[in-house]
Amino acid sequence: MYTASATSQLYIDLENDFGAHNYHPLPVVLKKGEGIWLWDVDDKKYIDFLSGYSAVNQGHCHPAIVAAFLQQAQTLTLTSRAFYSNTLGEYEKYITNYFGYDKVLPMNTGVEAVETGIKLCRKWGYEVKGIAKEQAKTIVCNGNFHGRTSTVISFSSDPTAKNNYGPFAPGFINIPYNDIAALEQALQDKTVAGFLVEPIQGEAGVLVPEEGYLQKAKALCAAANVLFIADEIQTGLCRTGKLLACDHEDVKPDILLLGKALSGGMLPVSAVLANNEIMLTIKPGEHGSTYGGNPLACKTAIAALEVLKKEQLAQNAENMGQILRDGITAIQSKYIKQVRGKGLLNAIVIDNPNKEAAWLLCTELMKNGLLAKPTHGDKIRFAPPLVINEEEIKLSVEIIKKSLSCLAV
Ligand SMILES: Cc1ncc(COP(=O)(O)O)c(C=O)c1O
Repeated sequence: MYTASATSQLYIDLENDFGAHNYHPLPVVLKKGEGIWLWDVDDKKYIDFLSGYSAVNQGHCHPAIVAAFLQQAQTLTLTSRAFYSNTLGEYEKYITNYFGYDKVLPMNTGVEAVETGIKLCRKWGYEVKGIAKEQAKTIVCNGNFHGRTSTVISFSSDPTAKNNYGPFAPGFINIPYNDIAALEQALQDKTVAGFLVEPIQGEAGVLVPEEGYLQKAKALCAAANVLFIADEIQTGLCRTGKLLACDHEDVKPDILLLGKALSGGMLPVSAVLANNEIMLTIKPGEHGSTYGGNPLACKTAIAALEVLKKEQLAQNAENMGQILRDGITAIQSKYIKQVRGKGLLNAIVIDNPNKEAAWLLCTELMKNGLLAKPTHGDKIRFAPPLVINEEEIKLSVEIIKKSLSCLAV
């Protein structure tokens, strides 16, 4: 049983007393971050192996992103889209060139990008594909995680995400992930407008599909005149060793959804990218967000994207990810059933009769100076900021090795 320090407990009690109980955090209270490092309120230092669920790919408080953020924060933060700004067009040009699309639609949180992607795809389905009114469907995968709005949880297969939140939105067809035959079957339905997929399922425990899955899926969608929508909110922006996880298979999504690291952890910034034929189906007044495309977000996102390229973080993620997986595999622990992942999006699957083993191990990792969180019971995601170096990876593997002994009965 771990007991938090008296100082930590004060903050934990505050959150418990006054905040909704919709999360179950590890008992660590953080006050500062720099690069891959985090400090708690007692000045203990940790390696961050979660990166704000892949939102701080560039490392905590990256100086170039902070500088851009501060400069814009002192100049102009919000105009709303009732007026033009001198930052939005610059950002739109930058991000569309960066990813090779005609247009971008800026939003804030990841789930808003997902919602926008679904709406955009339906609009295209009715106005370009010619699907009959109110009939458009989106194919989605079991085990998905696309966020928490009422529409998006409607097609979740996780009972915890859905319990007592119904009634649920219609218009979705669930198929197994990584199953091309199931996709082919579902695409027989002529009212399907899109296929929404995570190139690697993050929350489900870093499930990497078979090589060729994305390419085959994209080809089937193209043949059926169905839009391939990639949710790269967690997998994108160099996390898996390429700019986008879809790049591993040279697949270009029709609709690309980005979020999280698009601001390097500074503020919620998300984006939907598509070409004109799709994006221009949405007309003035038909969709939007007060904060979407605000000047602070625009300047911060440009800086965050610049850092990814300048510091070659895709290559570093690829290299460090390999060293990390090799290092964990070499521990040869009987408590690790599997090590999997791509780049620096990885997970271990715990082999232990104790249902709480993943939580126990995360608590031990925390005691030993590394912060990670279980996902779906027996899996622990290992996703440090992409600025991590070899020495730090080796130190992390040592901490993991040492911590595993807590699982001995
Ligand atoms: C793949 C994926 N899509 C969407 C989301 C939702 O993003 P947000 O929490 O910013 O709404 C997440 C968040 O973890 C995610 O991993």
